Amino acid sequence: NFDPSEATVVFVLGGPGAGKGTQCEKIKNDYKFVHLSAGDLLREEQKREGSEYGELIQNYIRDGLIVPMEVTIALLKNAMKESFEKENKTHFLIDGFPRKMDQAEKFEETVVEPKFVLYFKCSEEVLLKRLLERGETSGRVDDNIESIKKRFRVFEETSLPVIEAYEKRDKVRQINSEQTVEEVYSDVKKVFESLGLRDHLFYT
Ligand code: AP5
Repeated sequence: NFDPSEATVVFVLGGPGAGKGTQCEKIKNDYKFVHLSAGDLLREEQKREGSEYGELIQNYIRDGLIVPMEVTIALLKNAMKESFEKENKTHFLIDGFPRKMDQAEKFEETVVEPKFVLYFKCSEEVLLKRLLERGETSGRVDDNIESIKKRFRVFEETSLPVIEAYEKRDKVRQINSEQTVEEVYSDVKKVFESLGLRDHLFYT
């Protein structure tokens, strides 16, 4: 039976376009974590036929707003349970979550405390350039200048305070994500190695 309080969870945070998804894909190969992106789970749920939340999710994402907590947490818990039941996975990179204090509190209350928070720090200038470039091919409804600006404001006003709260608890590992993808990943690896997480490889 899946006991979420036994899971190892790393929250992966950073502004829109900071490279959370790019780096999580690398980490999951080297360290055998499961990568769960809150944004991807929401986009999948939005497309799922018969979903009662489809329209609601679509509207929040298009406007760059934080989707109501109940929906996001339920999707994450369900994905964790499925990974455990199908593949016996217990280590999770949770990307793009929590974005608001209430999400952090609820997750800790009902799932588990994160082992640490990986924070990809990047200036808005660099983020904007990346997202506008990606917008040409991503097909994402929120990769346009209005939505991007809204996402920046939400990040600064609502999500940064979450990172600051974890900083006070000495849980944040900050990485400069303005470097190249490989340079960023080299810093990421140092964090995982220093915490002994490579050992996890031998038990899966
Ligand atoms: P989400 O899908 O999480 O989007 P985001 O946080 O805005 O981040 P992105 O996915 O755009 O970027 P990323 O940091 O993963 O960067 P990537 O690796 O793609 O969320 C979207 C929406 O869903 C939210 O606005 C909200 O509405 C909703 N939502 C999500 N989570 C929620 C939650 N917890 N609660 C409620 N609602 C939620 O890289 C970006 C680009 O840059 C790529 O093209 C990449 O190739 C390039 N790149 C990456 N790294 C580098 C580098 N080092 N150098 C050069 N280029 C790089």
